[in-house]
Formats: sequence, C-alpha cells, structure tokens
Amino acid sequence: MNDLEAYFNANNKRLINKFLHYFQVYERHFSRFRNKEVVIVEIGVSHGGSLQMWKDYFGGKAKIFGIDVDPRCKDFEEENIKIFIGSQSDRNFLRETITKIPPIDILIDDGGHTMVQQIVSYEEMFNSIKADGVYVCEDLHTSYWMKYGGGHKRRGTFIEYTKNFIDYLNAYHTQERSLKVNEFTQSVDSIHYYDSMIVIEKKRREQAPCIEKTGNISFSIDSPPSPLIFRVFPIYQFCESFMNYIFRFLGINRAFRIPENILKKIRRY
Ligand SMILES: C[S@@+](CC[C@H](N)C(=O)[O-])C[C@H]1O[C@@H](n2cnc3c(N)ncnc32)[C@H](O)[C@@H]1O
Repeated sequence: MNDLEAYFNANNKRLINKFLHYFQVYERHFSRFRNKEVVIVEIGVSHGGSLQMWKDYFGGKAKIFGIDVDPRCKDFEEENIKIFIGSQSDRNFLRETITKIPPIDILIDDGGHTMVQQIVSYEEMFNSIKADGVYVCEDLHTSYWMKYGGGHKRRGTFIEYTKNFIDYLNAYHTQERSLKVNEFTQSVDSIHYYDSMIVIEKKRREQAPCIEKTGNISFSIDSPPSPLIFRVFPIYQFCESFMNYIFRFLGINRAFRIPENILKKIRRY
C-alpha cells in the first residue's frame, strides 16, 4: 500500500472521493514531486478532502490550489491551500485564474466531468503546466455515458478529443500534410491511459528523436539473406508503397498489403 492509499484509508478529515485504482497511478507519476516546492492544481474540490490529501503527500513546501463552481468550497482554504470559485468551462474565468497561480507542476481535472468542461479546461490550462509537469484528467468514463454527452466513438467526447494526442505525439514521423508538428508534439514526452484516466507527462522535444546504433554487427548489414530474395524483395516493397500512395490519393483509408500467401510463394523462388 502506498502513502496516498494509506492516507485515504485512514482519512478522518474532510471527505475524499476517488476510484481506488487511481492511487497506484498517482504514486507512479507524482512521487518525483514530493517534498519539493511544487504547485498542484485540482479542479473539483467537493468537500476539500483531496486538497488536504495532496498537502499531506507533497509536503510543507507544496502550494495547493483548488477550483470549484460551488462557492461553499471557499471555506476549505487553509495554510498552503487556496481555492478559486468559478466554472471550469468558463474560459475567461480560467484565464484570469491562471494569472493568480504560479507555473503548475501537476494539474488534476476532477471537476464536473462533462465533455465541454474537460476540453475547455485542457485547452486553457495545459500550456500553464511547466515543461516537466504532469496533466491528469480523471473519470474519463463519462465519455461513454449518454447523460454526459458521451458514447462509443461519439464525436465531441473528451476521449475522442484525446485520441488525436497520439497522432500529435508521433507527428515528427509524418509524411502527410494533414499531420503537422505542433506545440503538443514539442512539449509532451508520453501519454498514459488508465481505466477512466489520462496522464500526460510533459518534456521539451524541439527536434525529431535521434536514432543511433551501438555494438558490433553479426552479419553484413548491406547484404540480404540470399541473392534471389535481394532481387525480389524491393519489387514487392515498391508495389506496396506505390499502392499505398494510390489508396491515399483515392481517399481509401486503409493500408494496402500483399497477402501473406502470395509473399510466401515469392519468397520460395
Ligand atoms: C467529483 S467532485 C470532486 C471530488 C474531489 N476532487 C475529491 O477527490 O474528493 C466534483 C466537483 O466538481 C465541481 N464542479 C462541477 N461542475 C464544475 C464546473 N463547471 N467548474 C468547476 N467545478 C465544477 C463540483 O462542485 C464538485 O465539487
């Protein structure tokens, strides 16, 4: 059991409301920030228990900020815990709030969990997270719940919105104009999906990743396994590439592959 789980289980202070499997995720992504001068922001204060938990976990040098639409949450301020009252879907409120918070190490969105709230909060707050910071959005299962505007592969859900992040992360390798290197590509190191949760770890990546070789070769890299394959291989590779360009040009959104049984026959000769 990690320290956060232990705190949660023994909690007799303000109420905390979390999925139990989140505690493993927190430990994995947050432990490097403990006992440092960190800035933690949580959207969704409720009874204030999670803010107290972060304060205990990150230690006396941490500054904890909460954001909630419910004005009663203001009462939960205490030393090192400050709370802003307003809606996470109100871009003006978020822009103003950001000016009152130092650069953020960790942002946790545990607010109202509707699609618009999650998207607006991400769009307004992500750039205020430090270059080595972490962004977390919880309770992504609402992307599958009708009453939150969700549904499997439904356009406009937050989960569909985040699926684009996978393309942006890999944009240094694109060969098409439809995918471009953007700020996300240059500022994100990794994306982690858990049940109901996304965690994005930031790191500056101004250039495409480098590839290098080390160690000793075991056979000549330039010579293929057999002279005959050497003659055949580039032909079917060329055919596949050519057909894939044609498919793309015609708007056919799938990859062309020479069937495996034909490849086997070619290889036999
Ligand atoms: C799931 S609770 C937060 C639980 C808390 N983080 C915890 O772990 O104990 C959700 C909170 O989000 C707040 N909320 C709902 N809609 C909001 C909005 N539009 N903007 C900000 N907060 C909102 C609710 O008032 C509620 O306090």
